[in-house]
Amino acid sequence: MANQDILLEMRGVHKRFPGVYALRDVTFDLLAGEVHALLGENGAGKSTLIKILGGIHAIDEGEIHIDGKRVEINSVADAQKNHISIIHQELAQVPHMTIAENIFLGKEIAGGFFSVRRQEMLKRAQALLNAYDFDVPAYKKLAELTIAQRQMIEIIKAVSFNARILVMDEPTSSLSDKEVEFLFRTIRRLKEESVGIIYISHRLSELFRVSDRVTVLRDGMVIGTRNTQEVKQNELIAMMVGRELSNYYTRSFREERGSEILRVENLSSGDQIHNVSFSLYEGEILGLAGLVGAGRSEVCRAIFGLDALTGGKIFVRGEPVRIACADDAMRLGIALVPEDRKKEGIFRIKNVTFNITLKVLRRIFRGLKVDKALEYRTADEYIRSLSIKTPGQEQLVGNLSGGNQQKVVIARWLATEPKILIMDEPTRGVDVGAKAEIYGIMNELAKRGVSIIMVSSELPEIINMSDRVVVMGGGTVRAVLERGEFSQERIMTHATEGM
Ligand SMILES: Nc1ncnc2c1ncn2[C@@H]1O[C@H](COP(=O)(O)OP(=O)(O)OP(=O)(O)O)[C@@H](O)[C@H]1O
Ligand SMILES: [Mg+2]
Repeated sequence: MANQDILLEMRGVHKRFPGVYALRDVTFDLLAGEVHALLGENGAGKSTLIKILGGIHAIDEGEIHIDGKRVEINSVADAQKNHISIIHQELAQVPHMTIAENIFLGKEIAGGFFSVRRQEMLKRAQALLNAYDFDVPAYKKLAELTIAQRQMIEIIKAVSFNARILVMDEPTSSLSDKEVEFLFRTIRRLKEESVGIIYISHRLSELFRVSDRVTVLRDGMVIGTRNTQEVKQNELIAMMVGRELSNYYTRSFREERGSEILRVENLSSGDQIHNVSFSLYEGEILGLAGLVGAGRSEVCRAIFGLDALTGGKIFVRGEPVRIACADDAMRLGIALVPEDRKKEGIFRIKNVTFNITLKVLRRIFRGLKVDKALEYRTADEYIRSLSIKTPGQEQLVGNLSGGNQQKVVIARWLATEPKILIMDEPTRGVDVGAKAEIYGIMNELAKRGVSIIMVSSELPEIINMSDRVVVMGGGTVRAVLERGEFSQERIMTHATEGM
């Protein structure tokens, strides 16, 4: 590494928000052609650091140097001028505009007639898409793309403007394996072109594959920087959470199966799922495994009344039920923590308390008035049990870190005290400490007789937490495996059947 040039240096960076000391004396550097990973728990300060670099937050104290020269970055334009390109954790896209327009957003090509510029823009955007083997027409509206595709567009956009410093804040959080491979290929290519990349992810396995160095932040401070090849996973986790994390997956399995709580029979919905049948028993965790696109989320949505059934039946405690909307489902004691929590869950300009107690308003009303004490206690209980990092209940959820926003949505559904809890990728985007906490809560709920359906793409999570596993593929059930029967290989074999 000695012959690589220092591209970027951030020295002695401090940043305070009301009630939060987000960054304290952070020093960080990036070499040309390296991938430097930033790791840390939810709320550690990762996004804040790169928002300073991107000109979104003003720096309180500290200096930024590029190629050894001090620069001032006071705006997004300043960042662009310095060839800094950022893929933010919360995608800043305009869904009703086309791919081409989004790629050129803020960088429109100057020219004569609007239509001329438009043609040129389309042509250039299409050339970019082709260059990255991304097979969609540039005139398509973003709203028509999947989240993963949108994320890919964001990546292509970021790399397309001769960026020298590229920051990716959790770029893979909604990508499938194939898309992750594409991203990694792109990263290798950029490294060869001497681009420096700052890479933020909670997936340690990715950091080990893609990064050259790792810097760990905790409570806004740098705990240390290591060469990736010389560090062990356990050491990184200990640096992140400040202690050794032993028994990560807590689960006490029952001796006997409980009674049947939910049964779906030949469930079909849209073109997405057909003839899905399985049962869910009291106090069990049922893992829903499968590849992206297997139909797992669609099953959850159908059970929760978000998508209409085109066939099949649902039984709760042996009784056939009709679930036409989410309210019907909630009345039956069902809750769904959705996969896309940003889109379906967060009220950014409302505070933490509002967001947590939203679904239990009926319970916290005394006559026409909210019982403030009860409201406070409810929110407080979940802030504690999920370790939601916030300076107080009044904080706007939009000001919380990405992972803590996720925890707020989980809290909201736990607060409904469901009998049947459906969790779609419950630990996506949350740090290792919070993961352990979420597993602990799931275990407690199961012990108390709550039945849980957990969709997860992380096989270790499925294997360690589930009583039974339903493997889906092509919109239907491929196998139902009992504990003791399932292994990583076995699940993958069923998931990829016929592919
Ligand atoms: N605009 C803001 N106003 C107030 N506080 C903020 C704001 N942005 C961030 N914070 C606070 O600063 C701290 C650091 O947040 P940051 O978003 O940098 O965390 P992070 O490391 O990116 O976490 P995650 O892994 O959850 O994305 C958190 O306590 C957060 O609540
Ligand atoms: Mg973040």
